[in-house]
Amino acid sequence: MNTAIVYYSLNGNTKFAASRIAEKLNADLIELHPKKAYHDKGFKKFYFGGKSAVMGEKPELMPYEFNADKYDTIILGMPVWASCITPPLRTFLEEYKDLLKNKEIAVILCQSGSGANKVLEKLKKLLGRESFKAELVLIDPKTNPKDENELKINKFCIEF
Ligand SMILES: Cc1cc2nc3c(=O)[nH]c(=O)nc-3n(C[C@H](O)[C@H](O)[C@H](O)COP(=O)(O)O)c2cc1C
Repeated sequence: MNTAIVYYSLNGNTKFAASRIAEKLNADLIELHPKKAYHDKGFKKFYFGGKSAVMGEKPELMPYEFNADKYDTIILGMPVWASCITPPLRTFLEEYKDLLKNKEIAVILCQSGSGANKVLEKLKKLLGRESFKAELVLIDPKTNPKDENELKINKFCIEF
């Protein structure tokens, strides 16, 4: 099984989870960076990031390498923003949606409270799927480390 983890992370939580999972599954890591970086702290972080997510923006991304032919399984990783798909992932999905049709898809979501279920529904709708191969929802695994997150990461990798 050839797996890529395509993810965006503003404050390192999704990056932390994606890296741990890539190690365990021997997956390639592809990090997305918007050309115009989002504010990463304070009021502006929530205001501009939240607005961008709710508006369904698709920001331009820095160049990255992703060859869909190389993979049969793609794990999408992102933080929950205002219960919406994070904009850099929206840009990626817009470009690759058709090429992902015959792939297995799994999802990793990081959040600080709730909203992940809504994001999963939005992703299913966008990708035209009833379900994903696997789903993992973590609460701030880097900034608020807990044994529970480690257990969930291990379970996700074993069941993958
Ligand atoms: C713009 C913005 C909106 C957010 N909205 C939510 C939300 O709706 N629900 C939630 O539980 N956490 C929300 N969060 C918190 C992040 O999802 C959470 O801290 C996540 O672990 C951050 O991942 P990262 O470090 O990879 O960026 C939001 C954070 C930002 C910056």
